[in-house]
Amino acid sequence: MNRGQPVIAVTSLLLDQTMDRLGELGEVVLTSAADLRQGHHHQDQVDAVVSLLADPIDAETLRQLPGALIVANYAVGVNNVDLAEAERLGIYVSNTPDVLTETTADLAFALLLAAARHIGAGERLVRSGRFSGWQPDLLLGVDVHHKTLGVVGYGRIGRAVARRGRGFEMRVLYCDEAPREPCAADERQVDLETLLRESDFVSLHLPLTAESRHLIDRRRLALMKPTAVLVNTARGPVVDEAALAEALAGKRLAAAGLDVYEQEPQVHPDLLALDNVVLAPHLGSSSTETRIAMGETVARNVAAVLRGDPPVNPANAPADPRNRARRSVT
Ligand code: GLV
Ligand code: GLV
Repeated sequence: MNRGQPVIAVTSLLLDQTMDRLGELGEVVLTSAADLRQGHHHQDQVDAVVSLLADPIDAETLRQLPGALIVANYAVGVNNVDLAEAERLGIYVSNTPDVLTETTADLAFALLLAAARHIGAGERLVRSGRFSGWQPDLLLGVDVHHKTLGVVGYGRIGRAVARRGRGFEMRVLYCDEAPREPCAADERQVDLETLLRESDFVSLHLPLTAESRHLIDRRRLALMKPTAVLVNTARGPVVDEAALAEALAGKRLAAAGLDVYEQEPQVHPDLLALDNVVLAPHLGSSSTETRIAMGETVARNVAAVLRGDPPVNPANAPADPRNRARRSVT
């Protein structure tokens, strides 16, 4: 590595546009989260780390990065990074909010519709060659329009999903750990139990934290209507996957649409065997436009910190950021 230029370690190849953009800011070095954790001999020269949402950037890894000013996560969720340890070490952590809000809401709604109307099972039927023509009772689903949509976590993405629901003339209930003003007159904040009891569709839009782990457990699943549909585009561990598989198998819940899993990329074997769950491979933010915009956001955060400024999208708040002492780096 050539001292003088800032060194940006990326844990994975990103889109060409993003690699080019980062290349304008410094020397880009391709590594992996496992390598960073081991600490190789040039690692003390790394100024910025760009990580993916599945990279565990834990305390051990952070301690192997004595010169790092920022961990710029290529995701809105930052549950993979030890934020407190980074803060203690003076390392900023940033994320990519806003640019992926509408794209993720689109995917949540796609899963909601697909689960309600058996799109996955229908696809499998057609591809198997067993589709024998229109039938009065073929793959009967449930209506989405005019039903009740429960949004758990009324932040940017949750509100974007609620807006889509209004377009389908749904009644919207939401819950959040903080009191939040409704975005439309007929939206109502309720507690989680009320939301689970009253909603026909429940969509999860909250970050994974110690408090939200297994928020949707066996007891709470039992509160939902047997005709209800659960959608998870947030983080797998927010739902107790084994309990969900049991509820779906026992028809105590009509269907589910999942984009995220407890042990990603592994999927609970019982879910794989069920026809009433639509399974997507963590595609929430996966549109070309949004992935390019996420890369641009990562680059802007890295650039700000290399200049000696706080990141544009901080996910933690070090009292004594390392980059303050490194203002000379441009
Ligand atoms: C996707 O899951 C993200 O956090 O960006
Ligand atoms: C459905 O295809 C209909 O024509 O009713």
